[in-house]
Amino acid sequence: MRIDCLTTFPHIFDSHMSESIMMRAQNNGYLEFHAHNLRNWTHDAHRTTDDYVYGGGVGLLMKCEPIYEAAEELIGKEEVSLRISDYLSGKKSANKNVRVIIAGPQGRTFDDRLACELSLEKHLLFICGHYEGLDERVYALADDVVSIGDYVLTSGELASTVIIDATVRKIPGVLGAETGAINESFSDYLLEQPQYTRPDSYRGMDVPSVLLSGNDSKIDKFNRESSIRRTWNSRPDLIERALRDNLLSTEDLKMLDKVKHVAHAPTV
Ligand code: ADE
Repeated sequence: MRIDCLTTFPHIFDSHMSESIMMRAQNNGYLEFHAHNLRNWTHDAHRTTDDYVYGGGVGLLMKCEPIYEAAEELIGKEEVSLRISDYLSGKKSANKNVRVIIAGPQGRTFDDRLACELSLEKHLLFICGHYEGLDERVYALADDVVSIGDYVLTSGELASTVIIDATVRKIPGVLGAETGAINESFSDYLLEQPQYTRPDSYRGMDVPSVLLSGNDSKIDKFNRESSIRRTWNSRPDLIERALRDNLLSTEDLKMLDKVKHVAHAPTV
């Protein structure tokens, strides 16, 4: 996958993209990542990317021109023209080569399902707003406006980094084991069960003995029940959704009934 980001602060991406799994994904050929400085597409001495708001709004807005010119260079003039015609006609053409994303608190809420969807794309372009935001006409370029939660950040770079991280780790092979991202919280709407590593006992807190038993089927059953218990206790809304979407097996439903009625030591 190739990811381009248009930003006035390209270094915001540096630390996250040059460490750990994001770095490994690039070194192993799963990800090609570029953060582009929008000032490279300005034409004035001050390399201006923002300007006053028409009508007397507060603060500064990011201007259209550097963003459109950068987009034309990165995704092609045709693809940009197509998006403008869609915007003007109110239609949505298929056959686009790139998925363009703008992170913003007004967007659809980011979740595991969207991360999976984005992980299947070949090319993503993120447009990052700063200051008071973007000139409204920049949104004509976007396929998705995505929020990472009901709060306002100072920059789209941080939100884009969150979306990129959750997306890239879904690309098969990025986490090493093929099942890495599949067998985890949210992939079937349940939270992951509590997990433990050595030592068996620490300051009076013991690892559940079944996990040390070596009996795989008992361990699987115990882990599934622990996952259902944790989800029921911490995020009952996810259980409701799993029930609505018929994602729980008969065995799961029995476990759910048990965790609802049998008191258990609290889990986080
Ligand atoms: N930019 C500023 N706040 C944001 C949010 N909550 N989600 C996505 N992008 C943002």
